[in-house]
Amino acid sequence: MSSIDLKLVIWRQKDSDSLGDFETYTLRDVSTDMSFLEMLDVLNEKLTLEGKEPVAFDHDCREGICGMCGAVVNGVAHGPEKENTLCQLHMRKFKSGDAIVIEPFRSLAFPIQKDLMVDRSALDRIIQAGGFVSVNTGGAIDGNTIPIPSKTAELAMDAAACVGCGACVASCPNGSAMLFTSAKISQLSLLPQGQPERKERAEAMVAQMDKEGFGYCSNERECEAVCPKGISIRNIARMNREYLKSMLFGE
Ligand code: SF4
Ligand code: FES
Repeated sequence: MSSIDLKLVIWRQKDSDSLGDFETYTLRDVSTDMSFLEMLDVLNEKLTLEGKEPVAFDHDCREGICGMCGAVVNGVAHGPEKENTLCQLHMRKFKSGDAIVIEPFRSLAFPIQKDLMVDRSALDRIIQAGGFVSVNTGGAIDGNTIPIPSKTAELAMDAAACVGCGACVASCPNGSAMLFTSAKISQLSLLPQGQPERKERAEAMVAQMDKEGFGYCSNERECEAVCPKGISIRNIARMNREYLKSMLFGE
Protein backbone atom coordinates (compact mmCIF):
# COMPACT_ATOMS: atom_id res chain seq x y z
CA MET A 1 0.00 0.00 0.00
CA SER A 2 1.38 3.40 -0.86
CA SER A 3 0.28 6.73 0.53
CA ILE A 4 0.29 10.30 -0.72
CA ASP A 5 0.17 13.79 0.76
CA LEU A 6 -2.43 16.17 -0.65
CA LYS A 7 -3.47 19.78 -0.58
CA LEU A 8 -7.27 20.00 -0.73
CA VAL A 9 -8.94 23.22 -1.81
CA ILE A 10 -12.63 22.79 -0.96
CA TRP A 11 -15.69 25.00 -1.42
CA ARG A 12 -17.21 25.74 2.00
CA GLN A 13 -20.64 27.31 2.28
CA LYS A 14 -22.75 27.32 5.44
CA ASP A 15 -26.15 27.26 3.71
CA SER A 16 -27.94 28.48 0.60
CA ASP A 17 -28.26 32.02 2.00
CA SER A 18 -24.58 32.45 2.91
CA LEU A 19 -21.67 33.38 0.69
CA GLY A 20 -19.17 30.58 0.24
CA ASP A 21 -15.40 30.49 -0.25
CA PHE A 22 -12.56 28.04 -0.78
CA GLU A 23 -10.67 26.67 2.22
CA THR A 24 -7.37 24.83 2.00
CA TYR A 25 -6.50 21.70 3.98
CA THR A 26 -3.43 19.50 4.08
CA LEU A 27 -4.00 15.76 4.31
CA ARG A 28 -1.03 13.43 4.83
CA ASP A 29 -0.60 9.66 4.38
CA VAL A 30 -3.71 9.14 2.25
CA SER A 31 -3.81 5.51 1.11
CA THR A 32 -3.94 5.23 -2.68
CA ASP A 33 -6.36 2.31 -2.19
CA MET A 34 -8.98 4.67 -0.76
CA SER A 35 -11.91 5.93 -2.77
CA PHE A 36 -12.29 9.69 -3.15
CA LEU A 37 -15.20 9.68 -0.66
CA GLU A 38 -13.14 7.68 1.86
CA MET A 39 -10.46 10.35 1.53
CA LEU A 40 -13.13 12.95 2.37
CA ASP A 41 -14.22 10.77 5.33
CA VAL A 42 -10.63 10.86 6.63
CA LEU A 43 -10.53 14.64 6.23
CA ASN A 44 -13.86 14.94 8.07
CA GLU A 45 -12.62 12.77 10.94
CA LYS A 46 -9.59 15.03 11.25
CA LEU A 47 -11.74 18.18 11.15
CA THR A 48 -14.14 16.75 13.75
CA LEU A 49 -11.26 15.85 16.10
CA GLU A 50 -9.98 19.41 15.71
CA GLY A 51 -13.42 20.72 16.69
CA LYS A 52 -14.11 22.03 13.18
CA GLU A 53 -17.16 21.61 10.95
CA PRO A 54 -16.84 18.56 8.62
CA VAL A 55 -17.34 19.01 4.86
CA ALA A 56 -20.92 18.14 3.82
CA PHE A 57 -21.16 15.95 0.71
CA ASP A 58 -23.83 13.66 -0.73
CA HIS A 59 -23.37 9.91 -1.05
CA ASP A 60 -25.29 6.68 -0.58
CA CYS A 61 -24.42 3.40 -2.33
CA ARG A 62 -20.73 4.18 -2.91
CA GLU A 63 -20.76 1.65 -5.74
CA GLY A 64 -21.71 3.80 -8.71
CA ILE A 65 -25.40 2.94 -8.97
CA CYS A 66 -27.50 5.38 -6.92
CA GLY A 67 -26.48 8.75 -8.41
CA MET A 68 -26.22 10.52 -5.06
CA CYS A 69 -22.53 11.41 -5.09
CA GLY A 70 -20.95 14.11 -7.20
CA ALA A 71 -18.61 17.05 -7.07
CA VAL A 72 -16.45 18.92 -9.53
CA VAL A 73 -12.83 17.78 -9.08
CA ASN A 74 -10.17 19.95 -10.68
CA GLY A 75 -12.79 21.38 -13.02
CA VAL A 76 -14.34 18.07 -14.11
CA ALA A 77 -17.66 16.73 -12.81
CA HIS A 78 -16.98 13.37 -11.06
CA GLY A 79 -13.22 13.87 -11.54
CA PRO A 80 -10.59 12.69 -14.01
CA GLU A 81 -11.73 9.07 -14.59
CA LYS A 82 -13.88 8.56 -17.70
CA GLU A 83 -17.39 7.12 -17.23
CA ASN A 84 -17.00 7.01 -13.47
CA THR A 85 -18.94 8.30 -10.49
CA LEU A 86 -17.11 10.22 -7.76
CA CYS A 87 -17.54 7.31 -5.33
CA GLN A 88 -15.73 5.03 -7.77
CA LEU A 89 -12.80 7.39 -8.23
CA HIS A 90 -9.73 6.15 -6.33
CA MET A 91 -6.81 8.03 -4.88
CA ARG A 92 -4.32 6.09 -7.04
CA LYS A 93 -5.39 8.53 -9.77
CA PHE A 94 -3.48 11.28 -7.87
CA LYS A 95 0.18 11.90 -7.05
CA SER A 96 1.77 12.96 -3.80
CA GLY A 97 1.95 16.76 -3.62
CA ASP A 98 -1.13 17.24 -5.85
CA ALA A 99 -3.51 20.09 -5.11
CA ILE A 100 -7.13 18.98 -5.62
CA VAL A 101 -9.83 21.62 -6.04
CA ILE A 102 -13.27 20.29 -5.04
CA GLU A 103 -16.46 22.22 -5.82
CA PRO A 104 -20.18 21.45 -5.79
CA PHE A 105 -22.22 20.78 -8.96
CA ARG A 106 -22.99 24.42 -9.74
CA SER A 107 -26.09 25.36 -11.70
CA LEU A 108 -28.96 27.82 -11.40
CA ALA A 109 -31.43 24.96 -10.94
CA PHE A 110 -29.22 23.24 -8.31
CA PRO A 111 -29.09 25.60 -5.29
CA ILE A 112 -26.21 24.83 -2.92
CA GLN A 113 -27.48 23.47 0.40
CA LYS A 114 -24.14 23.22 2.22
CA ASP A 115 -20.52 22.87 1.08
CA LEU A 116 -20.58 20.22 -1.70
CA MET A 117 -24.28 19.33 -1.35
CA VAL A 118 -26.71 20.73 -3.91
CA ASP A 119 -30.49 20.43 -4.20
CA ARG A 120 -31.16 18.27 -7.27
CA SER A 121 -34.89 17.86 -6.64
CA ALA A 122 -35.56 19.69 -9.94
CA LEU A 123 -34.57 16.41 -11.64
CA ASP A 124 -37.11 14.52 -9.50
CA ARG A 125 -39.83 16.95 -10.59
CA ILE A 126 -38.99 16.29 -14.26
CA ILE A 127 -39.56 12.57 -13.58
CA GLN A 128 -42.78 13.33 -11.69
CA ALA A 129 -44.02 15.22 -14.77
CA GLY A 130 -44.06 12.05 -16.89
CA GLY A 131 -41.07 9.74 -16.46
CA PHE A 132 -43.19 6.69 -15.69
CA VAL A 133 -45.72 4.26 -17.20
CA SER A 134 -49.16 4.48 -15.60
CA VAL A 135 -51.17 2.33 -18.04
CA ASN A 136 -51.73 -1.38 -17.41
CA THR A 137 -48.85 -3.21 -19.10
CA GLY A 138 -49.78 -6.67 -17.86
CA GLY A 139 -47.68 -9.01 -15.75
CA ALA A 140 -44.17 -10.40 -16.10
CA ILE A 141 -45.36 -12.99 -18.62
CA ASP A 142 -46.63 -10.21 -20.92
CA GLY A 143 -43.32 -8.39 -20.65
CA ASN A 144 -41.47 -11.56 -21.54
CA THR A 145 -43.65 -12.47 -24.53
CA ILE A 146 -43.71 -9.12 -26.38
CA PRO A 147 -40.96 -9.42 -29.00
CA ILE A 148 -38.57 -6.45 -28.99
CA PRO A 149 -35.67 -6.23 -31.47
CA SER A 150 -32.41 -6.68 -29.58
CA LYS A 151 -31.01 -3.38 -30.93
CA THR A 152 -34.04 -1.50 -29.56
CA ALA A 153 -33.76 -3.26 -26.21
CA GLU A 154 -30.05 -2.35 -26.03
CA LEU A 155 -30.79 1.32 -26.80
CA ALA A 156 -33.50 1.41 -24.12
CA MET A 157 -31.18 -0.22 -21.57
CA ASP A 158 -28.36 2.19 -22.44
CA ALA A 159 -30.71 5.13 -21.78
CA ALA A 160 -32.00 3.51 -18.59
CA ALA A 161 -28.44 3.46 -17.21
CA CYS A 162 -28.77 7.15 -16.26
CA VAL A 163 -28.48 7.42 -12.47
CA GLY A 164 -29.76 11.01 -12.25
CA CYS A 165 -26.56 12.41 -10.75
CA GLY A 166 -26.78 15.80 -12.49
CA ALA A 167 -23.15 15.89 -13.69
CA CYS A 168 -24.48 16.68 -17.17
CA VAL A 169 -26.19 19.81 -15.85
CA ALA A 170 -23.15 20.92 -13.84
CA SER A 171 -20.80 20.60 -16.80
CA CYS A 172 -23.04 22.30 -19.38
CA PRO A 173 -22.34 26.00 -19.99
CA ASN A 174 -26.11 26.44 -20.40
CA GLY A 175 -27.00 24.43 -17.30
CA SER A 176 -29.05 22.16 -19.55
CA ALA A 177 -30.72 19.00 -18.26
CA MET A 178 -31.40 17.71 -21.76
CA LEU A 179 -29.11 14.67 -21.48
CA PHE A 180 -30.86 13.55 -18.30
CA THR A 181 -34.40 14.26 -19.58
CA SER A 182 -33.72 12.69 -22.97
CA ALA A 183 -32.37 9.51 -21.35
CA LYS A 184 -35.53 9.19 -19.27
CA ILE A 185 -37.81 9.90 -22.26
CA SER A 186 -35.84 7.52 -24.50
CA GLN A 187 -35.87 4.54 -22.16
CA LEU A 188 -39.69 4.58 -22.22
CA SER A 189 -40.39 5.76 -25.77
CA LEU A 190 -38.30 2.95 -27.25
CA LEU A 191 -40.31 0.18 -25.59
CA PRO A 192 -43.89 -0.98 -26.36
CA GLN A 193 -44.97 -0.31 -22.75
CA GLY A 194 -44.05 3.37 -23.14
CA GLN A 195 -46.13 3.98 -26.29
CA PRO A 196 -49.61 4.90 -24.90
CA GLU A 197 -48.28 7.94 -22.97
CA ARG A 198 -45.48 8.81 -25.34
CA LYS A 199 -46.86 12.13 -26.58
CA GLU A 200 -47.93 13.52 -23.19
CA ARG A 201 -44.68 12.35 -21.62
CA ALA A 202 -42.40 14.27 -24.01
CA GLU A 203 -44.47 17.44 -23.73
CA ALA A 204 -44.79 17.36 -19.93
CA MET A 205 -41.16 16.50 -19.17
CA VAL A 206 -39.78 19.16 -21.54
CA ALA A 207 -42.20 21.74 -20.08
CA GLN A 208 -41.07 20.88 -16.52
CA MET A 209 -37.42 21.07 -17.57
CA ASP A 210 -38.04 24.63 -18.83
CA LYS A 211 -40.02 25.56 -15.72
CA GLU A 212 -37.14 24.51 -13.46
CA GLY A 213 -34.80 26.97 -15.18
CA PHE A 214 -32.53 24.54 -17.03
CA GLY A 215 -30.99 25.92 -20.22
CA TYR A 216 -31.08 24.59 -23.77
CA CYS A 217 -28.61 22.30 -25.50
CA SER A 218 -26.19 24.09 -27.85
CA ASN A 219 -24.24 20.94 -28.78
CA GLU A 220 -21.27 21.56 -26.48
CA ARG A 221 -21.24 17.82 -25.61
CA GLU A 222 -19.75 18.52 -22.18
CA CYS A 223 -22.62 16.47 -20.69
CA GLU A 224 -21.70 13.37 -22.68
CA ALA A 225 -18.01 13.81 -21.81
CA VAL A 226 -18.59 13.68 -18.04
CA CYS A 227 -21.58 11.32 -17.84
CA PRO A 228 -20.59 8.41 -15.59
CA LYS A 229 -22.91 6.09 -17.50
CA GLY A 230 -21.84 7.02 -21.03
CA ILE A 231 -25.28 8.37 -21.99
CA SER A 232 -25.12 9.48 -25.64
CA ILE A 233 -26.37 12.83 -26.92
CA ARG A 234 -28.22 10.79 -29.56
CA ASN A 235 -30.87 10.61 -26.86
CA ILE A 236 -31.22 14.41 -27.07
CA ALA A 237 -31.87 14.11 -30.81
CA ARG A 238 -34.50 11.45 -30.05
CA MET A 239 -36.15 13.66 -27.41
CA ASN A 240 -36.27 16.60 -29.82
CA ARG A 241 -37.94 14.39 -32.43
CA GLU A 242 -40.44 13.09 -29.86
CA TYR A 243 -41.26 16.63 -28.77
CA LEU A 244 -41.52 18.12 -32.25
CA LYS A 245 -43.68 15.26 -33.56
CA SER A 246 -45.98 15.72 -30.61
CA MET A 247 -46.18 19.52 -30.83
CA LEU A 248 -46.39 19.83 -34.64
CA PHE A 249 -48.29 16.72 -35.68
CA GLY A 250 -49.92 15.59 -32.46
CA GLU A 251 -48.29 12.14 -32.85
S1 SF4 B 1 -27.30 11.65 -18.14
FE1 SF4 B 1 -25.38 10.95 -17.14
S2 SF4 B 1 -24.57 12.78 -16.15
FE2 SF4 B 1 -26.73 13.20 -16.59
S3 SF4 B 1 -27.88 12.61 -14.77
FE3 SF4 B 1 -27.85 10.81 -16.12
S4 SF4 B 1 -26.05 9.62 -15.45
FE4 SF4 B 1 -25.79 11.69 -14.57
S1 FES C 1 -22.72 7.09 -3.94
FE1 FES C 1 -24.12 6.03 -5.22
S2 FES C 1 -23.36 6.45 -7.21
FE2 FES C 1 -21.87 7.33 -5.91
